[in-house]
Amino acid sequence: MTIKKRGLDGMRRRDVLALTQGLIGAVSLGACFGATPSHAAPITFTEASCGDKSLANQKILVAYASKYGSTGGVAEAIGQALCRKGATVDILLMKNVTDLSAYQGVVVGSPVYMGKWLPEAVDFMKSHAEVLRRIPLACFLVCMTLHEPTPENMAKALAYLDPVLKAVPDIKPVGLGAFAGALDYSHLSWATKQIMKSKGSPEGDFRDWKAIRAWAEASALANPVRLGAAASHWRHGA
Ligand SMILES: Cc1cc2nc3c(=O)[nH]c(=O)nc-3n(C[C@H](O)[C@H](O)[C@H](O)COP(=O)(O)O)c2cc1C
Repeated sequence: MTIKKRGLDGMRRRDVLALTQGLIGAVSLGACFGATPSHAAPITFTEASCGDKSLANQKILVAYASKYGSTGGVAEAIGQALCRKGATVDILLMKNVTDLSAYQGVVVGSPVYMGKWLPEAVDFMKSHAEVLRRIPLACFLVCMTLHEPTPENMAKALAYLDPVLKAVPDIKPVGLGAFAGALDYSHLSWATKQIMKSKGSPEGDFRDWKAIRAWAEASALANPVRLGAAASHWRHGA
């Protein structure tokens, strides 16, 4: 009987070859599906405050989630509009918010990814439910469905909030907003870019600042008198 010996040198060569092929495969897969391209534009997440800090009884929080920063711009426009109406506003990434006790009203916003608010935003609503059902709350979303702001697309966009509201049934927002967002292909992997193109999501910044400001100014949170009355009603009534 002859025993076939596997040459050690042959093994090493095969191992090295397999390892090299594996590495090349992993790097290509990353480039296609996961990794952020190295030429991506910088991402900034706005955080700011505005208004007269002495008006402590009209303090509003605009808390937002975001992956690529465009929702922060919407949150800031909402906050600035509320400040012009006389409120004091903190605009913060929700991951940096721990306590809502300083606020008489809250606005919570998230972009839509794969038809849903970011999980972080739903978790925020759940973990602060005790406070959010007692003070006036408005919710908004940012999405590319509204790059064409038809009535049908508005209805479709607002429906993205249905599962959120179902997840916290005892919270009744005083306002719901849906706004067009921004999409920068330089942040996306090749495969994600193809998916977005196939879904008809064009690249560009479609944020409609006039519509965002109009929504904020018309919101119950924009009226300090109504806000004070609503907060007191919520606190003492329900
Ligand atoms: C991977 C991916 C999935 C998305 N899914 C949706 C979607 O299901 N519906 C939609 O209307 N917009 C969708 N969008 C668009 C985003 O909601 C939009 O670009 C938003 O402005 C991103 O907000 P951000 O910059 O704060 O992360 C998607 C964008 C990406 C990159």
